[in-house]
Amino acid sequence: MTRIIAFFNQKGGTAKTTSTLNVGAALGEAGSRVLTIDLDPQASLTMACGVDVAALRGSVYDLLLEDDVALPDIIVPTAIPGVDLVPSHPDLAAAELELLNVLERERQLDYRLKAVDLGAYDYVLIDSPPALNVISINILIATGELVVPIEPHPLSLMVLRRLFDTIARIRRLNPRLEVLGFLPTKVHHSSRLASDMLATLAEEFPDVPLLPGVPLSVRSAESVAERVSILQYMPRSSVADAYRDVAAWVARGGPPPPGGQAAVVSESEGEPVHV
Ligand SMILES: Nc1ncnc2c1ncn2[C@@H]1O[C@H](COP(=O)(O)OP(=O)(O)OP(=O)(O)O)[C@@H](O)[C@H]1O
Ligand SMILES: [Mg+2]
Repeated sequence: MTRIIAFFNQKGGTAKTTSTLNVGAALGEAGSRVLTIDLDPQASLTMACGVDVAALRGSVYDLLLEDDVALPDIIVPTAIPGVDLVPSHPDLAAAELELLNVLERERQLDYRLKAVDLGAYDYVLIDSPPALNVISINILIATGELVVPIEPHPLSLMVLRRLFDTIARIRRLNPRLEVLGFLPTKVHHSSRLASDMLATLAEEFPDVPLLPGVPLSVRSAESVAERVSILQYMPRSSVADAYRDVAAWVARGGPPPPGGQAAVVSESEGEPVHV
């Protein structure tokens, strides 16, 4: 069964794109087959995957607004082993207005994903825009699970309350929506602000698990310029290892068993597609 997981936070710059890409890379590295979907008009994930936006024949914009475009028509390979991409395009910014005239505008992504057999993939990972708009609502209705990347900073809390109000309302339309957990990113381990915020988070949202944190690393941004994942660019770094731990956590749907190994378990059978 293909799991659909969205990396979602309406706050900008919380490492949604970085996490979608590198959790995908870590799952791919372990032999899983991953489809990433870029649903941000900024097209950051598309560019970070080394895909030339100007040369695209179709994008997620066409998927949402053209009846004769199906998901397989717009999937492109990436330079990241095991990872394919549904690219975005700056045109997606206009989709917000254009969807106003579409019946059931909030369900277009869900319909498009349900219309095809996703069986070739173990995971569909969705990168979300920093907004709570029609595109974001489409994501919340289409996804099965949510990972909420957060920058451990006091200002993030207010945004999270609003997000959970929205999730509560969305559950009427998508009752199976599950929050996998918060993913602390850019964590500065010696920062008191960060540890205070994580403590407050645990108090305010006691039912939401905390995924393994990803350390702050200025060099990790270089991987984007090189159009590869952090796992490829600096495979033995603490950030790459953190993303492997996050991917293993996501694959298990929870923390490692006491005394267990934090290895990524592939759900695909047989040979890995890429090595
Ligand atoms: N672990 C990290 N250490 C240092 N910088 C990081 C780390 N992870 C991501 N960044 C940087 O933080 C910035 C924001 O990351 P990213 O684009 O992934 O966030 P985002 O949530 O997708 O942003 P947006 O809301 O604009 O879509 C980027 O410049 C990225 O390179
Ligand atoms: Mg982004």
